[in-house]
Amino acid sequence: MNARAYTPPLGKGKTADYDVAIRLWTREMRWRRAMLNVLAARPRETILDVGCGTGSFAAMLKASEPAARVIGIDPDEEALTIARAKADASALDIAWEQGFASDIDARGADAIVSSLMFHQVPMAEKRAALSAMFAALRPGGRIVIADYGRQNGLMRILFRLTIQRLDGVADTQPNADGLLPELVKAAGFRKVREIERVHTVTGTVGLIVASRPD
Ligand SMILES: C[S@@+](CC[C@H](N)C(=O)[O-])C[C@H]1O[C@@H](n2cnc3c(N)ncnc32)[C@H](O)[C@@H]1O
Repeated sequence: MNARAYTPPLGKGKTADYDVAIRLWTREMRWRRAMLNVLAARPRETILDVGCGTGSFAAMLKASEPAARVIGIDPDEEALTIARAKADASALDIAWEQGFASDIDARGADAIVSSLMFHQVPMAEKRAALSAMFAALRPGGRIVIADYGRQNGLMRILFRLTIQRLDGVADTQPNADGLLPELVKAAGFRKVREIERVHTVTGTVGLIVASRPD
């Protein structure tokens, strides 16, 4: 059986270089802190980080709210190895699962976060991932997505020269065309809002929040 295809953390680049690249090229702390603030995790909540990669956000989240149950999910073994080492180094108790966004099971989670994953997955997987996330949340649960969104003017050129070179055009262009909020709505989420747009040398990263109706 063929292994299921996916784009690894840095696309054509090396996973070992991922953390440095994200720090240098994406104004990482700006959008990660904004995610943390809008998520506003509470003690005992179960929160999934889908497409968690090397675990930077899951680690930030667990450090900020140690009484939350944080679960990082990603298909990439090398990324998960880096994530585990990061959590262990800071004595953060995070659960890591190897798997795809479209395969996450219904589990009554309070919240789901996902950063920089959607621009890397094919259109069918974007839709399937959002449906699986909807089903994985409890009624009233919330979702926070940070990803490359609509690219305008100079941002479209920068996005083309950087992210689209690393991750290809087919999967990234729907994001650049601003489709993500519509896909979130189509999956059944309500109160879908893009609350912030962070301009970077690799394009504009948008922050989307939404909730599963009660
Ligand atoms: C650009 S990285 C982002 C990692 C992390 N969320 C962050 O903020 O640094 C995208 C991640 O999505 C993962 N990924 C790719 N396709 C996926 C899929 N279908 N389901 C879940 N994760 C996927 C990759 O393995 C990679 O770790």
